[in-house]
Parts: sequence; C-alpha cells; structure tokens
Amino acid sequence: MIRHLDDEADTAAFGAALASVLAARPGAVVYLYGDLGAGKTTLARGLLRGCGVGGAIRSPTYTLLEPYSVAGRELLHMDLYRLRDPEELHQLGLVDYPPERTVWLVEWPQRGAGVLPPADISIAMRADGKGRNVELTGLTEHETAALVAKLA
Ligand SMILES: Nc1ncnc2c1ncn2[C@@H]1O[C@H](COP(=O)(O)OP(=O)(O)OP(=O)(O)O)[C@@H](O)[C@H]1O
Ligand SMILES: [Mg+2]
Repeated sequence: MIRHLDDEADTAAFGAALASVLAARPGAVVYLYGDLGAGKTTLARGLLRGCGVGGAIRSPTYTLLEPYSVAGRELLHMDLYRLRDPEELHQLGLVDYPPERTVWLVEWPQRGAGVLPPADISIAMRADGKGRNVELTGLTEHETAALVAKLA
C-alpha cells in the first residue's frame, strides 16, 4: 500500500495504526528504508508508542539499538546508519531475543545485510512536497484492510 503523510503527526499516527495491526503478530521484522530525514524514526516512535512503550523514545542514532520490553514482547529499535560492518551486529547480543516474541524496527537495514533476519514487512519513505510518501509491503490482505480502516 502507498499513502501520503501530510505532517509529522500523520507519520506517527501511521506507525500507531500499524502497531495495532501487528498486535496479532507477536514477532515481526520490519525494515524502514528512506534517506536521512525521511521520517523513519517518527514512524518507529508512533509504532513503539502503539505497542505500549511509555516515557522517552530516543533515536538509536549513536547506540545502534534501543531495546524495550513491553507486555511479554521485546521491541528492538535499531538505526544502522553508523554501522561500518554488519559483523559488528554480533556484539549487540541479538541472538538472545526470541524471534517468536520480538519485533524488530530497523532503520538503514541495508547496512546490516547478511546478519539481520530477513524482513517480514518493508516500509519505504520519501519526501513528497511538504510531506512524505510511505510504501508498505508484507502485510496480508486482511491486515492491509485493517490498517486502511484504522487510518480512515
Ligand atoms: N509526513 C511528514 N511530513 C513532514 N515532515 C515530517 C513527516 N514525518 C516526519 N517529518 C519530519 O521529518 C524530520 C525527520 O524525521 P525523522 O528523524 O523521523 O527521519 P529519519 O528518517 O529517522 O532520519 P535519519 O535517517 O536521520 O534517522 C523530522 O523533523 C520530522 O518531524
Ligand atoms: Mg532516524
């Protein structure tokens, strides 16, 4: 699906709506593509809030990984822009996160190629006038319909 997002609040709301659809998938790997400033962190914040994360949600720009544990799920927010070598990912202890109840939100996933688990869902964001365009793939037809209904 492709949507236009008018402003930052729209991007966050899209993330939150996606979170409610993903509630039925305790584990998921979500790749977030887009240039610097495309809105990936804004969408990830909305998604994390929608998954029940309270308090500050820091961008993992320098830490590579900001992990959260909410309601029996592990939520991994990653930004791999500063990763020099995918092998560095092994130092983050990612193998300890059980795939069946871990949600991965990965900005700049290209930088982790070969080490990251493959994407279940891919999101690509790009500037479009004053707003952004978001393209999402990997949801079932049923999930897509649920997401569209939440956004209406
Ligand atoms: N739909 C939108 N329309 C206009 N501006 C937006 C929209 N969504 C987010 N923004 C703004 O874009 C800017 C960059 O957003 P954000 O930090 O989420 O980008 P990013 O893709 O994570 O960048 P980076 O690659 O540097 O991590 C922020 O100022 C944010 O408010
Ligand atoms: Mg970011």
